[in-house]
Amino acid sequence: MKYVLGIETSCDDTSVAIVDEGGRVCANVVSSQVEEHAPFGGVVPELASRAHLSNLPRVMDKALADACLSLDRISAVAVTQGPGLIGSLLVGISFAKALAFARELPLIPVNHIRGHVRALALEFDPVPRPALALIVSGGHTHLFRWQPDDAIVLLTKTRDDAAGEAFDKLAKMLDLGFPGGPLVDRLAAEGDPRAFEFSMPRFRDGSADYSFSGLKTAAAMHLKRDPHAFRDLSGQRVKDLCASFQAAVVKHLLQRVKQALKREPAEALLLGGGVACNSGLRRAFEALAKQAGLPAMMTSPVLSTDNAAMIAAEGWHLWRAGVTADWDLNPNVSLKAYDEVRFLANE
Ligand code: KG4
Ligand code: ZN
Repeated sequence: MKYVLGIETSCDDTSVAIVDEGGRVCANVVSSQVEEHAPFGGVVPELASRAHLSNLPRVMDKALADACLSLDRISAVAVTQGPGLIGSLLVGISFAKALAFARELPLIPVNHIRGHVRALALEFDPVPRPALALIVSGGHTHLFRWQPDDAIVLLTKTRDDAAGEAFDKLAKMLDLGFPGGPLVDRLAAEGDPRAFEFSMPRFRDGSADYSFSGLKTAAAMHLKRDPHAFRDLSGQRVKDLCASFQAAVVKHLLQRVKQALKREPAEALLLGGGVACNSGLRRAFEALAKQAGLPAMMTSPVLSTDNAAMIAAEGWHLWRAGVTADWDLNPNVSLKAYDEVRFLANE
């Protein structure tokens, strides 16, 4: 049996995973840095790199122990090349290079966003294709068509904030804590999604981009109008604002999927990335798929947020296709996740 060891350090999670040639996840260890960054209300890049550096050796040891394997059973090392934070990527890549060089193993460069797409294949086998894949995280918001030949076609992406970033910013405005997405999700469950008005983003140029900065500004306006009403973090106004904001984000995300369904051939609807943990989005996504008569495939929470299992799985795929990196591999913070672009336009 062959095993690929994956390393993910693109943002604030240090993760090492081992996936075997049958696509089974033998270990997937994720060490979160929430405690380091929480006092600052967001990810501090310098702290993230330093934490990756000290976490990686023990995270790898834990992954090997969980998989009951020693290092000499590993056949290849896959590592996230980008996109992500430059310092964080650099730590992961240096670690992966040293490991692969010392053990004389192939080094495989992985695109983080393609990893989020590949995570779906770890849980659903086979994933019917072509499929529409909505990948929503703290740094990215992309709608893709995933082709039977594995090519990824970009249909639309955000022109400003990512959806997860919008959740995090709302949480910051309300002083809820970090990371904000899960906190907003929890409060939204007890709020009224019709309490506050949010209009859908529209562009004069007819583009069907995603955009979340307008929703964030609208939330700031609601807050400014009556700041006292939002002081009590367990109060109804806070819950109502979270519910209304979440409903607007979900509506906007699915609005583009509906548009894509009119134009694109699809055998399944796929949802991945950290925001795929959002309960409102999962419910609405499932309902949309049902309406369209397609299966809804969504990664479970551990494979939605950043993890190295998806990097090892994508690494397997690349290795089989003959892709390996040289020892001069560098991070690429703006690495593109797609092979082709076919933008949607607003009706
Ligand atoms: O994929 P991910 O772990 O990291 C990036 O590649 O960015 O996504 C993290 C993002 C954060 O913005 C976090 O707030 C958001 O996913 N998130 C959520 C939920 N859980 C995580 N957003 C909304 N609702 C959630 N339940
Ligand atoms: Zn991610």
